[in-house]
Amino acid sequence: MDLYEYQARDLFEAHGVPVLRGIVATDPEQARLAAEDLGAFPVVVKAQVKIGGRGKAGGVKLAHSAADAEAWASQILGMDIRGHTVHSVMIAEGADIAAEYYFSILLDRANRCHIALCSREGGMDIETLAVERPDALARVALDPATGIDLEVACKILTEAGFAPDEQERIAPVLVTLWDTYRGEDATLVEVNPLVQTGSGQIIALDGKITLDDNAAFRHPEHAGLADNRSEDQREVAAQAAGLNYVRLDGQVGIIGNGAGLVMSTLDVVALAGEPYGVKPANFLDIGGGASAEVMAKGLDVILGDPQVRSVFVNVFGGITACDEVARGIIGALELLGDSASKPIVVRLDGNRVEEGRDILQEANHPLVTMVPTMDQAAARAAELAAN
Ligand SMILES: Nc1ncnc2c1ncn2[C@@H]1O[C@H](COP(=O)(O)OP(=O)(O)OP(=O)(O)O)[C@@H](O)[C@H]1O
Ligand SMILES: [Mg+2]
Repeated sequence: MDLYEYQARDLFEAHGVPVLRGIVATDPEQARLAAEDLGAFPVVVKAQVKIGGRGKAGGVKLAHSAADAEAWASQILGMDIRGHTVHSVMIAEGADIAAEYYFSILLDRANRCHIALCSREGGMDIETLAVERPDALARVALDPATGIDLEVACKILTEAGFAPDEQERIAPVLVTLWDTYRGEDATLVEVNPLVQTGSGQIIALDGKITLDDNAAFRHPEHAGLADNRSEDQREVAAQAAGLNYVRLDGQVGIIGNGAGLVMSTLDVVALAGEPYGVKPANFLDIGGGASAEVMAKGLDVILGDPQVRSVFVNVFGGITACDEVARGIIGALELLGDSASKPIVVRLDGNRVEEGRDILQEANHPLVTMVPTMDQAAARAAELAAN
């Protein structure tokens, strides 16, 4: 789960990371009151969206009075930032910025470790920096048992080119950021910019945190951080129905049983779709023992997705019997009635495959095509999506 900046700010504060005061507002009036509450000007009005590049999009503005903050808030609220609607703003104390640095800790899946990234050149687009001037970005693999103590922090800062007196000021802050990462079971903690003020104070002026959903059971308090408004509504609905669904941006809807099978289905569809510019529209694993009801829920989610032009149902019957799946498909189509209007390519194999195929044959539904192998089915589904 990705957090909003104001939620990251709160967690930072709880772990002793130096932050400025910030108050969330969901309407311009609240923004004015928040600015009055902060008392000193300027304040900063910041769009709260779970996507980067807010500043460039006009979502971060300096306000010199409470009236000013109200005016900026009414402009920023409701704004669309790269597909994300702004539902709230944070009114934050203004910082006297002398320098902007970059610091993050993330889970490096490829190298199976935690890694710290650090640069003297913060504020700007870090992806661009990493590509254009990789030397300006220090990367330090972290020992999970130690994480970041003062010694490790100084090593990171040395690699990033900070002088000893700067290290002394910044190192304790990096330790508190590790405490946040570790304590909250995050997979990302990013501060851009980490600033030094005119008086030499170090402050996290922006914060991005991604929490590890697999550790949610250890953090009942995190449940309150979820905000369904900002999630993909189709994913929210699928999750509520107990489905393992991730929306992607292609045209071929995918349903399979078992994460491994679904992953390889995504691969074969991506390959088959390449000549047409067609890609998988989603990941959906209906699991082992998938019942007719689960199939119906899955088809409902996928067929209702406007980007989907064809659907590929790929089932290998193990615990799940193919006849059950076939009944699920037919039952789902009956339930959906006229709202189902997209071609469905089905590949069944494994446990009770003959019975399953017989059921589909007999139903002879105009939208359903049976294809015997996975590659052929992928090719057919891609073709249907292209036309
Ligand atoms: N409280 C503040 N006081 C003074 N200046 C600020 C404050 N917050 C942000 N800024 C300035 O605005 C810039 C952009 O702010 P911020 O990093 O929060 O947003 P962003 O980088 O555009 O968003 P994102 O990090 O989501 O891409 C900062 O680099 C900093 O110069
Ligand atoms: Mg930023």
